[in-house]
Amino acid sequence: MAARKVPVIPLPGTNGYPMIGLGTFTIFERRGSNDEVKEAVKCAIDCGYRSLDCALVYQNESSVGQAVADKIRDGVVKREDLFITTKLWDTHHNPANIRENCMKSLNSLKCGYIDLYLIHWPFGFEDGDEYFPMGDDGKARFSDHDYVGVWKGMEKLVDEGLQPTDRGPSLLLEQKTGRFLYCQRNHGDGLRAAWEPEQNRAGDKDPVVFDEPILKEIAERKKKSIAQVCLRFLLQRNIVVIPKSVNPQRIKENIDILDFELSDEEMKAIWSLDSGKRFYIEPIAKTHKYYPFEDVK
Ligand SMILES: NC(=O)c1ccc[n+]([C@@H]2O[C@H](COP(=O)([O-])OP(=O)(O)OC[C@H]3O[C@@H](n4cnc5c(N)ncnc54)[C@H](OP(=O)(O)O)[C@@H]3O)[C@@H](O)[C@H]2O)c1
Repeated sequence: MAARKVPVIPLPGTNGYPMIGLGTFTIFERRGSNDEVKEAVKCAIDCGYRSLDCALVYQNESSVGQAVADKIRDGVVKREDLFITTKLWDTHHNPANIRENCMKSLNSLKCGYIDLYLIHWPFGFEDGDEYFPMGDDGKARFSDHDYVGVWKGMEKLVDEGLQPTDRGPSLLLEQKTGRFLYCQRNHGDGLRAAWEPEQNRAGDKDPVVFDEPILKEIAERKKKSIAQVCLRFLLQRNIVVIPKSVNPQRIKENIDILDFELSDEEMKAIWSLDSGKRFYIEPIAKTHKYYPFEDVK
């Protein structure tokens, strides 16, 4: 497995952002031997994944951290081989709380440093420890911290540590704990990560990707699964993919996409399925002034 090396997108201050990573959303932490997250991460590392997409709000960073620690202890990987992403959650947009959120993630991941630290969403929820603060009216309680202010707050952390200038925008938060890199999704040369690459649909009436005849036909021709064709389609557009799976077979399958290529005709055929619809719309924040998906059809 994973005979081929996963390509990386150059990112200053890192060894590059691997174009295939493991998503860890929806697998909430379980204790004991039946720890899906820990087992999934260990399986992924064994299969050649070197990128892990985490977030404070997924509430499983400590399991990710345990798996990483085990694999480092067993000599399977070194910390510097891995690319660990995590995200500032919506309830920590108050610039005064940014550092605390960052340290919470780092303390759970126990991985020394974070390679990529993202603003999870541009809209803020009420400051505090409740991840989804809800009012009596059943609606989320928002904050109006401006995301530009959030960005500036994150930049202050850069100022705290100061990396040598030739390492670009990466930073040391604390000399002991290591390095943090702040980077905007979709920045400059087009760093893009596709989350939910395999989610089927937002509603019952939406098309099911695994039922699409065009995809079925291409998958049969390539002797690959439909999931692999979808991931390969994104990869060929220079988009980082972070599929989530807790199933060992599917974890292997999702990285086994480097030994085939889609032709221009096949790429065009897949493009023809584009309905212009966004499936992930975070409806809880729809009335927030910084809600980013106004273009949703
Ligand atoms: N920044 C953000 O706000 C944001 C939002 C959403 C997601 N994300 C990130 O993106 C990652 C991916 O999104 P996601 O987890 O929602 O969706 P996803 O990876 O597109 O889909 C996950 C679903 O597909 C199944 N699956 C995985 N591989 C498969 C395969 N080869 N064949 C068939 N089914 C397969 C999984 O089931 P099994 O586990 O049973 O295999 C799971 O039900 C997240 O885990 C998270 O890290 C970020």
